[in-house]
Amino acid sequence: MSSYNNDNNKKNKAIILVGGFGTRLRPLTFTTPKPCIEFCGKPFIYWMIRGLILYGNVNEIIFASCHQSEIIKNIVTSLFVDQINNPKGSETKIPKLTFIEEKVPLGTAGAIHNCRTLIGNCEHFFVFNSDVTCRYDIVIKNLLDLDSSKIGNIAGFKVEDPTKYGVLCLSNPKDKTNNEIKAFIEKPKDSSCGNIINGGLYFFHSDILNFILDDNHKYQMLEKDVFPVLAKHHLLDASFADSFWMDIGQPKDYLLGQSLFMSSNQTLIDELNLARNLSFKNNQTNETKGNTFLNSEIKQVGNYNKFENCSVFKGCIIGNGISIKNSIIGENCIIQDNVIIENSILGNSITVFSSNIILNAKIAPFKEIKTHCISINEIKDYM
Ligand code: GDD
Ligand code: MG
Repeated sequence: MSSYNNDNNKKNKAIILVGGFGTRLRPLTFTTPKPCIEFCGKPFIYWMIRGLILYGNVNEIIFASCHQSEIIKNIVTSLFVDQINNPKGSETKIPKLTFIEEKVPLGTAGAIHNCRTLIGNCEHFFVFNSDVTCRYDIVIKNLLDLDSSKIGNIAGFKVEDPTKYGVLCLSNPKDKTNNEIKAFIEKPKDSSCGNIINGGLYFFHSDILNFILDDNHKYQMLEKDVFPVLAKHHLLDASFADSFWMDIGQPKDYLLGQSLFMSSNQTLIDELNLARNLSFKNNQTNETKGNTFLNSEIKQVGNYNKFENCSVFKGCIIGNGISIKNSIIGENCIIQDNVIIENSILGNSITVFSSNIILNAKIAPFKEIKTHCISINEIKDYM
């Protein structure tokens, strides 16, 4: 069996699918597109782009969106503006960053078809869902090892509940040398097809374009219209990496994914000084527990606060005697003294007046919470 040789002279391209609406991360996605939501102190997509640049041998990354394209473009470009303006001064060369917008959502396969002229005669390209996190170094390395008799390599991961994902049915899941995908089943009703799932990270030969209908306006899904056919033709392999993996599209998964990513990138996060958690290590008056990430650019944190399974974004001002649990606090929020926040998501720039209790709430950006107690039944008033 021969495999694709990661020849440095032969560059790859990458498409990142940034077309989703991020409904499950509302109200954060009211103001920020899902791929750009803060994650370990940077816009989520930064880590993915960094992974592709360092390990994917790419000369162009195409961002395929169907809304908020301009915002995504501005955020992504600003992340790399120094290296783009001063390419000689930077250690790593930044690939071309291209932004393309679908007038109507074309689906995950339609989006790739829409990029075919940009792919041009490039032989191989990555396609990444923009809401999954993992150890990009080893996952990308394994993806590149595409067998020359196959058209696609899908990063596979073992999960407890496969019903939320696409499932990869392998002929012999225990045999690590034969990873051919026999069938692909999107969101099965139960786990009878196994629990190895599609991680939303792919490496394709350009021949895959022949398996996507040549119709510009057709909505087509890789998961329903393309992968099942490729599997039937024995053209799809799975690759496995010794890495955590998480789709961060839901608040609980976001918090866990962020924590796992932080653990596996601790040195880098320390070097870049992205987390404020560290300064609390020797601080008796603030306690952090569980999957907590506090952005280093939080403006101010008082004393006697408890943070458990939560994320507090940049620019926030946190008073004293506050307890935040199982919650995400968007950018530039002001939380006054003696507030309790549990199982909630606060959008950007919200002010919570002192001595409030906020339970099970999703609060839209720019609101002022003056009442004494708010719970899910009352959120209508705040949306
Ligand atoms: N450009 C574009 N156009 N992008 C799209 C479109 C579209 O019409 N529809 C979805 N996307 C992008 C989303 O932005 C996201 O990055 C990715 O495609 C997947 O969409 P999700 O809505 O997040 O799908 P999912 O999480 O339910 O399922 C997918 O991901 C799982 C892994 O997290 C599937 O690929 C599953 O098979 C997979 O297991
Ligand atoms: Mg998803």
